[in-house]
Amino acid sequence: MNTYFTEAFQRLPNEEREAYHRTVFMQMDTENKTGYLDIGARVYLGTGCCLHGHQGVEIGDDTLLAQNITITPFSHKFDDPSIPIIKQGGHSRKITIGRDCYLGKCVCVLWSADIGDGSVIGSGSVVVKPIPTYSVAVGVPARVIRHRGKSPPPPA
Ligand SMILES: CC(C)(COP(=O)(O)OP(=O)(O)OC[C@H]1O[C@@H](n2cnc3c(N)ncnc32)[C@H](O)[C@@H]1OP(=O)(O)O)[C@@H](O)C(=O)NCCC(=O)NCCS
Repeated sequence: MNTYFTEAFQRLPNEEREAYHRTVFMQMDTENKTGYLDIGARVYLGTGCCLHGHQGVEIGDDTLLAQNITITPFSHKFDDPSIPIIKQGGHSRKITIGRDCYLGKCVCVLWSADIGDGSVIGSGSVVVKPIPTYSVAVGVPARVIRHRGKSPPPPA
């Protein structure tokens, strides 16, 4: 497996880099030689997280990812039943997770989603659409149930 890391990641002290490698599985697109992970300062990544690089995953400063979270900026196409799905290519885009976010255990973030600064995602949620800043979102698919602070949630 080839891995591609940002300069900032490479500048981390050895022991911090090794800690990430021990606890988190990071997969890059070795075929197209693309993909990167840009992980901010003081980010916590729980054990068993799986970050697929592909078009890139960016995580802002002070964000907390609990255990067994999957971030997957790629999805296979399957429109043509006469071609094996594995040969049909896929959709891919960069996923951005803001700063000071909290993702509960077993959250899955799909290629079509981003998470705004300060948002909280309940454990077990599947995030398929962009989550606005300072939201609390839960469920499958994840829906905003309230905002952190006084502003009301946006219309569904
Ligand atoms: C989302 C969470 C942060 C709670 O947020 P909250 O704003 O206090 O939400 P509440 O507990 O008041 O629940 C509000 C509603 O969301 C529902 N809800 C809460 N968490 C949910 C979840 N993970 N999935 C689906 N629904 C959830 C509640 O049942 C409730 O529904 P109701 O209004 O129909 O009764 C919390 O439930 C959670 O998932 N925390 C993550 C825990 C975790 O992973 N810990 C690991 C630490 S490293």
